[in-house]
Amino acid sequence: MIKAPRGTSDILPAASSQWQELEGRLRKLCTAYGYGELRTPIFEATELFARGVGEGTDIVDKEMYTFTDRGGRSLTLRPEGTAPVVRAFLEHKLNQSLPARFFYLGPMFRYERPQAGRMRQFHQFGIELFGAPGPLADVEVIELAWTAYRELGISDLEIKLNSLGCEECRAAYRQELKRRLAPRLSELCGHCQGRYERNPLRILDCKSPQCQGALTELPELSTYLCPECKEHFQQVKEGLSALGIPAVEDPQLVRGFDYYTRTVFEIVAEGLGAQDAVGGGGRYNNLVQDLGGPSVPAVGFAAGIERILLVLEKYGIKLKEEEKPFIYLAPLGKEALLYLFKTGTQLRRQGIPVYLPLEEKSLKAQMKAADRCGASWTLIVGEEELKSGQALLKNMVLGSQQQIQTAKIVEAIAELYREEGSRK
Ligand code: HAM
Repeated sequence: MIKAPRGTSDILPAASSQWQELEGRLRKLCTAYGYGELRTPIFEATELFARGVGEGTDIVDKEMYTFTDRGGRSLTLRPEGTAPVVRAFLEHKLNQSLPARFFYLGPMFRYERPQAGRMRQFHQFGIELFGAPGPLADVEVIELAWTAYRELGISDLEIKLNSLGCEECRAAYRQELKRRLAPRLSELCGHCQGRYERNPLRILDCKSPQCQGALTELPELSTYLCPECKEHFQQVKEGLSALGIPAVEDPQLVRGFDYYTRTVFEIVAEGLGAQDAVGGGGRYNNLVQDLGGPSVPAVGFAAGIERILLVLEKYGIKLKEEEKPFIYLAPLGKEALLYLFKTGTQLRRQGIPVYLPLEEKSLKAQMKAADRCGASWTLIVGEEELKSGQALLKNMVLGSQQQIQTAKIVEAIAELYREEGSRK
């Protein structure tokens, strides 16, 4: 049997309703904050991520799904959404009116070792805010993320916050890092030995135990911040505190992308195990320029949909009950089957969820199926009912029955459906 590729999963109809509800609520929230949906292609030119995310990052070096198409182009399934949004922002000259706000929802692909909460195809919800250099933009993004989780009922969260400074602060830090690591170079993993010259800051992000040992007693980047970056960070913290959003400073937080400048943050949920980050983001003041555009500072965030759903499951929160048919149509005999098929189709065209058998079955089997599918009503029509013009309508909740005229059957059921809707 052919199975779904490792690290991917099917979303079955029962789970789909949760996904739809979650996506719907996130869309609504973004609209309230003035963010417009931007849908970018699933694959992009490989160069976009090599330049955007950064060579030397785990994502670009080890995790991309890259292939050559029949035209000889190197393409990559998007591992994240920020670089594609920046690409679209430039391609469509969306910098005419700033600040500009975008959100996205969709699949991302990373060749990682699958485990609980870590997939090779996963889904992200993300937002990107362009053209706002001030600290309140960082606060807006973190606040939106925080509110999104809170509105879903997730409150047991921690926001980790750090500042990576700007190019200037980092140049000095990079030098100091190299100086401190030079005597311990042979202790680093092979990958980080390569990073030492190319991208030494990335060594801080290495998860291998070998490197962790060599990374102790290094100075913190925050002690190298220039006065402007320090002030920006201070104001972000003050803004969050003014809104009552708890954020904990974490000097070790570096995140796995090269594009970040100044603020970075991660939102972690309790009890998710090793993969506890439900979202993360930060400021990227140079990426638009690095990808060939003008200087437009930006800040953004992305959340893992699967991880949000895991937290909701852990909390026992169901965003939406599964859709059940409103009425089960139970025909007895060939003539009634076709008659109810027509009736059911008319009801479906009005948007009424109808369970419609496609074959003849015994009354007993049909009543059992009606019970199982959770319909509110069952309509029974046999040859006799067709002749008399009176069908039997059963209330599945109360167990009561009533006669209903076949001549007005569609109108009568539609009326019942409206009544039930108004009671909800
Ligand atoms: P990221 O931290 O790599 O950031 O991903 C954001 C979230 O996506 C993570 O916190 C996690 O919830 C989820 N996620 C990441 N990888 C996986 C995986 N393999 N399986 C399941 N879920 C996963 C970014 O992608 C940045 N582009 C965020 C950003 C937007 N920064 C600025 N703007």
